[in-house]
Amino acid sequence: MANRKVYTDYFFDEPAFNTHDGGYVPLETPTTPQEKLRIPALLQPDQETPTDMTYTVTAQAGETQLLPGPKTKTWGYNTSILGKTIVFKDGKNIHVTLKNQLPEVTTFHWHGLNVSGPIVDGGCHAPIYPGESHQIDFKCDQVAATLWLHAHPCPETAEQVWRGLAAMVIVQDKTESQLPFPRNYGVDDIPLVLQDRRFHQNNQLDYMADYDPDGVQGPTPMINGTINPYFDVTTQRLRLRILDGANRREWRLHFSDNLKFTQIASDGGILPEPVDFTHLMLTCAERAEILVDFSQYQPGDEVTLYSDDVPLVHFRIHQFAKDDTKLPDHLVEIPDPPVTPNTKVHQVVMSGMDEQVEINGTKFDMQRIDDKQKIGNVEYWDISNTNDKSTGMIHPYHMHATQFRIVSRNGHAPYPNERGLKDTVGVNPGETVRLKVGFNKLGVFMNHCHILEHEDGGMMAQFEVYDPDHPKTYHLMDMDTLMTAFAKERGVKKEDLNIPGMHM
Ligand code: C2O
Ligand code: CU
Ligand code: CU
Repeated sequence: MANRKVYTDYFFDEPAFNTHDGGYVPLETPTTPQEKLRIPALLQPDQETPTDMTYTVTAQAGETQLLPGPKTKTWGYNTSILGKTIVFKDGKNIHVTLKNQLPEVTTFHWHGLNVSGPIVDGGCHAPIYPGESHQIDFKCDQVAATLWLHAHPCPETAEQVWRGLAAMVIVQDKTESQLPFPRNYGVDDIPLVLQDRRFHQNNQLDYMADYDPDGVQGPTPMINGTINPYFDVTTQRLRLRILDGANRREWRLHFSDNLKFTQIASDGGILPEPVDFTHLMLTCAERAEILVDFSQYQPGDEVTLYSDDVPLVHFRIHQFAKDDTKLPDHLVEIPDPPVTPNTKVHQVVMSGMDEQVEINGTKFDMQRIDDKQKIGNVEYWDISNTNDKSTGMIHPYHMHATQFRIVSRNGHAPYPNERGLKDTVGVNPGETVRLKVGFNKLGVFMNHCHILEHEDGGMMAQFEVYDPDHPKTYHLMDMDTLMTAFAKERGVKKEDLNIPGMHM
């Protein structure tokens, strides 16, 4: 175990980094005083028994002190920004009451959760109108992982997430509980939601002023809803559950002193083997759990986490007990079922940029099912990005309802940290990424680019997982119903609504 290779590469194609984009908004080092990193509280279950967990998740509007001076109007789940962290335990029956106390319609999408669609999954077919609530019930049926909850009322997903609607979800299971990982939440097991924002007059957000069809960005890093955060390190080892929760931004992460860190989990669960890095790039919606070992530091030292050359979090080192825990070379076994015989390779082509973005040559239509998958099928899906190699962008491709495996990138081995379960994968321009995808929940689900403005702009499709012995029909939303609701809630005529994605 002493001799694991240390990767020093971001792996993605450098000419496609978002820094090369004409509209790129570089991060700027915050000049406001350092603030203690906000750690989202754990959402307390309304009830927990040996078999069941019951929660209430409320989408609400509030105000958050983000900068000195006026508070910022923000949205969150059970809090004013982002959300309380929700824990689901594998094997339990989960009941969640979803409440909408916002002034407009929203949905509650469980990104990465293995549940039926389209209602429990919470995409655009599951609107909850202001003042209303709805209960969902499902069995938690997956391995330990770091997932998230976010709004998904297409084509208004991007703006609602920009206002703050994103929360961490942690799935726990028996296997994870027996591995030598830190798991004292808030002390040595820390969520890190990476986002960026621009603040306008009176410290307010103004999504429309910042609008860019290739993805909205701001110059100020915001971590767990904290600007310029520090974290007090009181243990030698720290587990960071990192989420790229930005609308558009890629994060190129590295620590001061090029401190080595170890990735132990990707989007959908623990990696088969730990992977050592000095540099790690995340594209939108991807997660990485990493372990950082501060043994070489003294109380009073500071270790900084950067993206490119901008500090994101200052880790202030305090006294800690010596910790000799060694990670095993092998962490978990990931089942790898064979592809269903006589199944052809499924093609998904992501093309265009700006308003031209499409999947398989067409824009999203809520009323159209693009593909049908038989329940239980395991298939190869080839995801291509036809953008130009030197001027195009990386599209982070995401699928609801499943955790896939990455088989290859243009026929080559996937990146070293892509050997575990994933639900989102950054696809380079000119590249085809082959996925092995299993379908084991019934329903209608979305697959799309996770640059939120591309998703809202129509770079999205949907598939139905069906059981030939029990065919079902689903009530699918339509754009007109949602736009009528938004218009009414905003007190404007439908023609005067200003939601960029609705025109694409
Ligand atoms: Cu993060 Cu369609 O989802
Ligand atoms: Cu999702
Ligand atoms: Cu995209």
